[in-house]
Amino acid sequence: MKKGYLFIIIFFLVNLLLLFSCTKDKPFTYSPKAYIARFPQAIEEKIGPFTSGIDNLTTEEGIFLGRKLFYDTRLSGDNSVACSNCHQQQFAFADSKEFSDGIEHIPTGRNSPTIFNQAWSKHFFWDGRRKSLETQAHDPITSATEMNGNWDVIIERLQNDNIYPILFYQAFGSGLIDSISITKAIAQFERSLISYNSKFDQFYATKDSSLLSASELRGFEIFLHRGTCNACHTLPLGHLNAFFSIGLEKGIEDSGLAKITGLASDIGKFKSPSIRNLSYSAPYMHNGKFKTIREVLNFYNNDINERSPNIDSHLMPLFNNRGSLSTQDIADLEHFLMTLNDESFIHNPSFSNPSIK
Ligand code: HEC
Ligand code: HEC
Repeated sequence: MKKGYLFIIIFFLVNLLLLFSCTKDKPFTYSPKAYIARFPQAIEEKIGPFTSGIDNLTTEEGIFLGRKLFYDTRLSGDNSVACSNCHQQQFAFADSKEFSDGIEHIPTGRNSPTIFNQAWSKHFFWDGRRKSLETQAHDPITSATEMNGNWDVIIERLQNDNIYPILFYQAFGSGLIDSISITKAIAQFERSLISYNSKFDQFYATKDSSLLSASELRGFEIFLHRGTCNACHTLPLGHLNAFFSIGLEKGIEDSGLAKITGLASDIGKFKSPSIRNLSYSAPYMHNGKFKTIREVLNFYNNDINERSPNIDSHLMPLFNNRGSLSTQDIADLEHFLMTLNDESFIHNPSFSNPSIK
C-alpha cells in the first residue's frame, strides 16, 4: 500500500516536471536569438558590418550570460575581482588609474584600455598579443596580478550556482560549463558594447556641418590634415588595427610590440587606441602617463621624444616642426575630440552591472 502511494506521487511529480519542461515559455528552452547590432548606416558603409567571433555567434542569451560573468567576482581566486573592476562603464570600460590593480591591489604593468567597438578589432592588448576576444579573456582570469583565478574552482562555483547552468544552457544548448563557454559568453557581451552615438556620429551620418561649432570644425580639419591624427585614429572607427611608435618614451621602459615579435623595428610600438569617449577614459597611453587631453595634445605638438626608436613617419610633420600648432589650434583640436564623446554609451542600462537594479 505504502509503495503504491509513493509510486503515484512519483508518477505525478514526473508528469508535472514533463509538463513544466514542455510549456512554451519555460525557462529551459534553447532557442537563442541572433543579436542585431544597431548603429548608423553611414558608419557601417565605411567600417563594415558587425561581426561575431569565429564559431561564436553573438546572441541575446550569450550577451546576457556574458554580462553577468563580466561583473562576477567569482571568476577571481579570492572572489574579490571582476573584469568590471578595471573596465568600468563610467570610464568607457577603462579605469581611472595610471596602472590598474587587481587581486590584493597588485598593480598590472599597463593602463587599462577602453572596451567598446571591439567587434572591429583584430588584435587585443597594447601589444596585440591576442587575436580574439575569446582568447584574450583567458588571460586576466588566470593572471596572478589580475584575477588569479583557477578554472576548476571557477567552473565548480558556477556549476553549483542556481542560475548559471540554466543561462549556459540557454546560450549554448548545454548546461556544461567550461573555460571555452565562459570566455565565449564574455566575448559576446564585449562585442555588444557599441558606441556610435556621439555628436560626431550625427554629423557624420547627416553631413550637416551646422551640428558642429566653428571651433570643432577647425579642430576636425587639424585632425585630418596638419595633425595627421586620422592616419592612426581613423574615423569613423577611431582606432586602427595597427601598431605605431609615437615617440612617447625612449623605448626601453616597455618595448611594446617588440616583446611579442622580438624585432628591434617594433620597439616602442603600441596598438593605436580609440579616440572616442576620451572624456571618460583618462589617464591616457599604455602607461597612463597623461592625465588630461591637453597634456596629450601638448605632447604631440612639443614633446615627441627624439631618442625614441621607430617613430612613425606620419608624425614627422609634428616632430620636425615642434610647436607648429598654436594655442588656438590645440583648443580647437580638443573641442573636436570632445564631439566623439557618447554620453548614452556611458549610461546605457544594457551594459551596467546586472545584479544592481
Ligand atoms: C586588474 C585589472 C584588470 C582586470 C581584472 C581585467 N582587465 Fe582587461 N585589461 C587590463 C589591462 C591593464 C589591460 C592592458 C594590458 C596589456 O595591454 O598588456 C587590459 C586589456 C584588456 C583588453 C584588450 C583591449 C584592447 O583594446 O586591446 C580586453 C578586451 C580586456 N582587457 C577585457 C577584460 C576582460 C573580459 C576581463 C575579465 C575576464 C578583464 N579584462 C579583466 C586590466 C584588467
Ligand atoms: C603614427 C600614428 C599616430 C598618429 C599620427 C597619432 N596617434 Fe595618437 N596614438 C597612437 C598610438 C600608437 C597611441 C598609443 C601609444 C602608447 O600608449 O604608447 C596613441 C595614443 C593617443 C591617445 C591616448 C588614447 C588612450 O586611450 O590612451 C590620444 C588621445 C591620441 N593618441 C590622440 C591623437 C591625436 C589628437 C593625434 C593628432 C595630433 C594623434 N593621436 C596622432 C598613434 C598615433
